[in-house]
Amino acid sequence: MAGLTVADYGFGAPKTETLAVAGGEKAVTYPNDQIAALTKWPRYGDAEKKALCDLLDNNKFYEELPAFEKEWKDYTQAAFVKNHINGTSALTSMYFALDLPAGSEIMVPSYTFFATCLAMRFFGCVPIFIDINPKTATFDLEDARRKLTSRTRAVVPMHSWGLPCEMDRISEWAKEKGLIVLEDAAHAHGASMQGKKMGTWGAMGIYSFQASKGMPSIEGGVGMYQTREYFERAAAFGEYNDPVKFPKDSPVHAYEGTGFGQKYRMHPLAAALARQQLKGLDATNQLVEKNVRAMNDPLTKLAGITEPHCRADQKRVYYYRNMLLMDFKKLGFPRDALVKALKAEGVDVSFWDYPEQHKLKIYSEAKWWNHPPTIPASMPGNAYINANHIFLPLIYGDAPDLVAQYVQAFEKVWAHRSELA
Ligand SMILES: Cc1ncc(COP(=O)(O)O)c(C=O)c1O
Repeated sequence: MAGLTVADYGFGAPKTETLAVAGGEKAVTYPNDQIAALTKWPRYGDAEKKALCDLLDNNKFYEELPAFEKEWKDYTQAAFVKNHINGTSALTSMYFALDLPAGSEIMVPSYTFFATCLAMRFFGCVPIFIDINPKTATFDLEDARRKLTSRTRAVVPMHSWGLPCEMDRISEWAKEKGLIVLEDAAHAHGASMQGKKMGTWGAMGIYSFQASKGMPSIEGGVGMYQTREYFERAAAFGEYNDPVKFPKDSPVHAYEGTGFGQKYRMHPLAAALARQQLKGLDATNQLVEKNVRAMNDPLTKLAGITEPHCRADQKRVYYYRNMLLMDFKKLGFPRDALVKALKAEGVDVSFWDYPEQHKLKIYSEAKWWNHPPTIPASMPGNAYINANHIFLPLIYGDAPDLVAQYVQAFEKVWAHRSELA
């Protein structure tokens, strides 16, 4: 593809007429109702409606749970799978299953949802906040190397926005240091690396099926385990019916009727939704990727626009939005001016700064922790990504004209970019 210009993609020569923000005509004229239909998420159809109605009629609610677990296990090739009420409860059960001595430290990104960092608190574990790599927005192994302590026991990469962390390098380092690798794959439904699904690289991994996620059951989650021991402990934490199902020699078998104090099973209606969504997951991911490529291939030819770097052996998916990176300092105009100009052209552009966990109140108060987490003075990777990204919508249908108009809007704004300064 090297050497191609924007015009080579068949969208015509860069337009230089007046920007819409300065009173010119909008580049995106595609009907708003059609854009709303193409970008709507989640998307449920007749299959989901039928599955829910069938369940309400036949009352076989709880059969959905093992059926979903089996299908997810077949899809991901995980050794063991357990349904959960959500991703947060899957993380809590995972930290329970670890069974680490109180005071153990676990490396987590600060650029993540609270549950990755906080759920460990119930078991006396303490987070070590790791930065993200500004080229990928995922776990920065170099920062982890710097922050290793004598109390570090585990590491939890999170596959931000569907882009796999470098699990081969992370796993190799963790092995060398005697650390357990876990995964927060809540953004990565269908993603894989070297042919291995995310969530199966670590000793344990979790997914969320919350409404915004790539395989939404509105609320829902799952835990994935490489060993019987982890599986049985995690399952027994939140399902009082499970211990008795495990072999007599299982250390949790005797906790029949109680488990370990939580009731975390997935809602059966959510499992019914998840089963239907799983059937379409790969096709949806492919369609979204096709549209992202049609948009990003020309856009990344424009000065200063890049995508989070994805290695050739990583199969990424796109969760929530199409993230583009641009170094606003180098470009010489502020993000707000760009967003205003693109919005005026009719582009649904946004940005969202991930709340950095290490800056939130609960981590600064010693009373919640075995020992106080270390709060890093700065996290340049988080700061860079938060300040230098924009989000474009994901498109869940065939819409080459809409993609072309978006590209034209960018070309037009780029032709006038000196006016944005
Ligand atoms: C990275 C990450 N981990 C975990 C979770 C927790 O999932 P849930 O909302 O299903 O509890 C989320 C949800 O937003 C998430 O984004």
